[in-house]
Amino acid sequence: MSERIAVCPGSFDPVTLGHLDIMSRASALFDRVIVLVSVNPKKVPSFTPEERIDMIKKVTGHLTNIEIKTFDGLLADFVRSIGATAIVKGLRAMTDFEYEFQMALANRKLCPEAETVFLVTRSENMYLSSSVVKQIASFGGDISGFVPHEIKDFIAQRLCNKQ
Ligand code: PNS
Repeated sequence: MSERIAVCPGSFDPVTLGHLDIMSRASALFDRVIVLVSVNPKKVPSFTPEERIDMIKKVTGHLTNIEIKTFDGLLADFVRSIGATAIVKGLRAMTDFEYEFQMALANRKLCPEAETVFLVTRSENMYLSSSVVKQIASFGGDISGFVPHEIKDFIAQRLCNKQ
């Protein structure tokens, strides 16, 4: 059987414990997982794509079937270009649902050969997001419960006094 490739797209600005949980669960479900640092036109990132890739690399070293890439075009085009059969996304509160549902339907129209697979967040990550992390860090708060310890100091230093 051919290998099952999944793409796990996001802004990852920065990667959080919630993202890491979804990545490791995807890594157990698929042969290969491509974590794709993508462009969300609705967001202005705080970290460069290189910084975001670097942070993801630092925290996913133990997941041997994960690769990290960046792409500034349509997700559906990337998914097709590598022959992936799944787009994996984490689903948190109901507020995520309508937006994610719309993207899943649009991606299916553009790339019917890939399924969007939603992994339900762990309850402790329900209200965790990159924007919450950035806000806490910018006020000098403790982000150790929200991001992997390997990147905590880097994020704190980059964002402190940025509010
Ligand atoms: O972590 P985010 O910001 O919720 O991720 C959203 C992201 C980057 C996955 C989404 O904006 C995306 O897929 N961007 C790539 C461009 C694209 O394909 N847009 C149309 C999706 S229907």
